[in-house]
Amino acid sequence: MTHLDSNRERRGGAETPLRSSGIGKRDDRRPWFGRRQLLSGAGLGVAGAFGLGGCAPASSPEAPFSPSPTPTSGATARFELRAGLAAVDLGGVTYDAWCYDGQAPGPTYRVGAGDLVKVAVTNTLPEDTTVHWHGVRVPNAMDGVPGVTQDPIAPGGTFDYSFIAPDPGTYFFHSHVGLQLDRAMAGVLVVEDPNDQTQADHDWVVVIDDWVDGTGATPAEELEALERRAETERTMMGSGLDLEYPHYVINGKLSTDPVSFGAKPGERARIRLVNASADTTYRVALTDHVMTATHKDGVPCQPTEVDCVLISMGERYDIEVTMGDGLFRMLAVPEGKPGVAMALVRTSRSAGEAWPDDLPAELNGRIMISSQLQGLESVDNYDAGDDEQARDIDVALSVRNGAYSWLINGQAFAEADPVLLAEGETIRLTMTNRSHSLHPMHLHGHSFRVNGLGSWHDTLLLGEMGSATVQFKANNPGQWAFHCHNIYHAEAGMMTLLNYSG
Ligand code: C2O
Ligand code: CU
Repeated sequence: MTHLDSNRERRGGAETPLRSSGIGKRDDRRPWFGRRQLLSGAGLGVAGAFGLGGCAPASSPEAPFSPSPTPTSGATARFELRAGLAAVDLGGVTYDAWCYDGQAPGPTYRVGAGDLVKVAVTNTLPEDTTVHWHGVRVPNAMDGVPGVTQDPIAPGGTFDYSFIAPDPGTYFFHSHVGLQLDRAMAGVLVVEDPNDQTQADHDWVVVIDDWVDGTGATPAEELEALERRAETERTMMGSGLDLEYPHYVINGKLSTDPVSFGAKPGERARIRLVNASADTTYRVALTDHVMTATHKDGVPCQPTEVDCVLISMGERYDIEVTMGDGLFRMLAVPEGKPGVAMALVRTSRSAGEAWPDDLPAELNGRIMISSQLQGLESVDNYDAGDDEQARDIDVALSVRNGAYSWLINGQAFAEADPVLLAEGETIRLTMTNRSHSLHPMHLHGHSFRVNGLGSWHDTLLLGEMGSATVQFKANNPGQWAFHCHNIYHAEAGMMTLLNYSG
């Protein structure tokens, strides 16, 4: 047994609320991705509606449209997805959760690049919901942002999502209503590459989540607690305003009853890491293995060998690993807070059933950070526009003093002016984090290139006081959310819209 999971076992419906971690409560024995580790000031170039949209609903769904020259495959992939309540077993502990198809995480859909994806969603929740296809360059009307791109799906209602999945890679989908992401409302969308060169023997999906659903406090109550904390404690620029969770899970299981992947020594595995958490960034390592990062947010990058990967909310990494001989732990250690999520990889029967409970050296070894990732010279499907013609837009990320109110250029979403773009324009976004919090900034409907490094992302982690410059071509008209993927930050204002018509 491992004792790594410092969280006590709880029964479903137990009253232990999600605690907010206070100033100075950051556990110094834990890794913390702080300012010192940032390439601050490196020539990097960018980063929505979780809140109540004040915007006019977008145009009605149009014919499926692909923003890139990717040919359509001609194939159609059909799914039915039910948003609803279910008793979910995290491994000996069962909670009543809001989830998809009665499971946590939700289903993994595998489709081919260029396929027409049709997902019929039924809402059996007591509240409105929507589904957002995170990272997929969908037509705007399929983007799932309530009050912006569609009317929310009312309880008992249905909505048919229909879009071409233009780009191969690892994506996910989740509710875009309020704080529902901090329920278990997320699933995975893998878009297979017909020209895949990976030659991996295994393809594993690993979804990391911070878990509060059903444990006693609702996400809305947690937000209220954060608001009270921000008012009563003298928090400095957002430091310490993080939530500690009762549980962290990999593929819906606690580290006390981990999921186990099987392989043979010497085989290659492709591991698709997805951070579906609401408020937690992790260091992920596989004990005794070097990992090669091959893709970020679906897009190929310069293959890079690392000992661990820092993955923030909404980010995805594809990792390749050559299997050693034995029993290994895949650990996801929350950045700056106690707890751990774990899965096992077993390649030999003789390795026994026990594993140590230490934190391995890999967690402090060579680390992959998204804003330092090196890209490839060029990648299919993606266009960063014209460097000479690029229009600069600055984005400052901050928090209001004495309030749990997160701001983009001094404005919370409720009062924010949308940023107006023109179709075909090249946009160069410089994002600057003026806070002591981590902000994984996510742009809907587009991927962007980090200038100077050439890597592509739809979600980019900005560390404390960090900055990055990113660039993209405005080639997918609509009203696009741009927000922090810490769902509490987004709900508390850290979101805006980038709008342009075709
Ligand atoms: Cu993954 Cu606007 O969200
Ligand atoms: Cu944030």
